[in-house]
Amino acid sequence: MLWKNKEPEKVFTPRASDVNESMYVNRPDLESALKRGLRSSMHLLIYGESGSGKTWLYKRVLKDLDIDVYIANLANASRLKSINAEFSNLVNREQQARETGYSEMTKAGVSAGVASGGLQHQSQYTFGEMEPFEACLSSIRNRSNNKQAILVLDNLESIRAEQNLLTDLANVITLLDDERYASYKVNLLIVGVPGDLRQYYQATPNLTTVANRIREMPEVSRMTLEQCKNLIYQGFIKELKYDVDDIDSIISHISWVTDRLPQRIHEYCLELAFIGESNSRKINRSLLDEADKFWLKQSLAANYTVIESMMNERDTKVGRRNQTLYSLGLIETEEFKWSDIEEIVRKEFPTSTDNLTLNLPQILSWLSVRENPIIKRSPKGDAYCFSDPKYRMCLRAMLRKSSNLDSSHSVEKLSISQI
Ligand SMILES: Nc1ncnc2c1ncn2[C@@H]1O[C@H](COP(=O)(O)OP(=O)(O)OP(=O)(O)O)[C@@H](O)[C@H]1O
Ligand SMILES: [Mg+2]
Repeated sequence: MLWKNKEPEKVFTPRASDVNESMYVNRPDLESALKRGLRSSMHLLIYGESGSGKTWLYKRVLKDLDIDVYIANLANASRLKSINAEFSNLVNREQQARETGYSEMTKAGVSAGVASGGLQHQSQYTFGEMEPFEACLSSIRNRSNNKQAILVLDNLESIRAEQNLLTDLANVITLLDDERYASYKVNLLIVGVPGDLRQYYQATPNLTTVANRIREMPEVSRMTLEQCKNLIYQGFIKELKYDVDDIDSIISHISWVTDRLPQRIHEYCLELAFIGESNSRKINRSLLDEADKFWLKQSLAANYTVIESMMNERDTKVGRRNQTLYSLGLIETEEFKWSDIEEIVRKEFPTSTDNLTLNLPQILSWLSVRENPIIKRSPKGDAYCFSDPKYRMCLRAMLRKSSNLDSSHSVEKLSISQI
């Protein structure tokens, strides 16, 4: 049989919601915290920036523990303007799955008597008469028998602005204390992005009741350097079997520009893998500029345009602004003050800043009040943070200090117009 090479898109899957087992990178701290949480009687809350790996994490851990998982998508609840509507959807999906399972069983030649006996037993449950949440719990318990079962409420962020739905959610959590509802023994796993957590709690009636029943998991954030390295190694060497030169520089570049956010690492690697595919399945560091361009174009185009619009003039004032943008990309902390940026600008561009006042407060303020601000005041107001973490990645991938010695103060952008 002819050996067939794997395709890049089967290996690097930035938007896959199902876990690809051969590419899953272990995250021991998060996994064991979640495993411990699942042994408590509390409902759990997982939060982390979009693309940080929340969905893959819970799917993998629940599968490892052989716990049944049922997923209600709050994005659907938002679209249908009701959490109950999404619970009803879930019940219908379960019912359909059962019926398909039954017809497959008979098709497969299982003794009709046994099979129909099983179905008869199951169809004694009529969910239609129960209110949707109870119907959902009942359907889950019915399907899972005595096994531990978890109802995931994913994408909490989609109901962030909908007071009614937030109230419904709080009621659902409170209801699970009621004897009748508790008897189904189904716990909740709520999944969302960090900013919404505060809002979620603020908007919640019976705050203490609800907070007492929820256990927060540690934030799911960027991968460690080791995990990022494992992901890149696994993808390019084990799965794609590429010939890789300078793997350390490649890893260090990718972990820098993507800020080690799993979804972004996959996106970047996918672009690099496509380039490698047309380079006889070989990659090395000289291909990174091209990969940067494709990644900027495919995944960060909107951010690129905003940054570009802030730097397309050439007087000194703009020169300073470009230096500021470049320096913002170098910031590693969540929040930063103008003095932190000034320190970086002076260090990176010593000749053009010596003995001069830099006006960083004005420049940062300008960057934060435009129509599309790339930074915003931190909640306390005494510092700044990025308005979207993608801006930091975009700045890192798109800006370069000029290599021309005569213009050591200037910053250049990587042009993506030819891509
Ligand atoms: N442990 C992991 N190992 C390897 N890749 C991962 C891992 N976790 C996540 N990824 C990659 O990152 C992508 C995004 O992960 P996931 O969908 O879990 O993020 P999320 O936090 O749920 O995002 P969102 O908030 O947008 O739903 C996945 O499709 C996968 O490509
Ligand atoms: Mg998710």
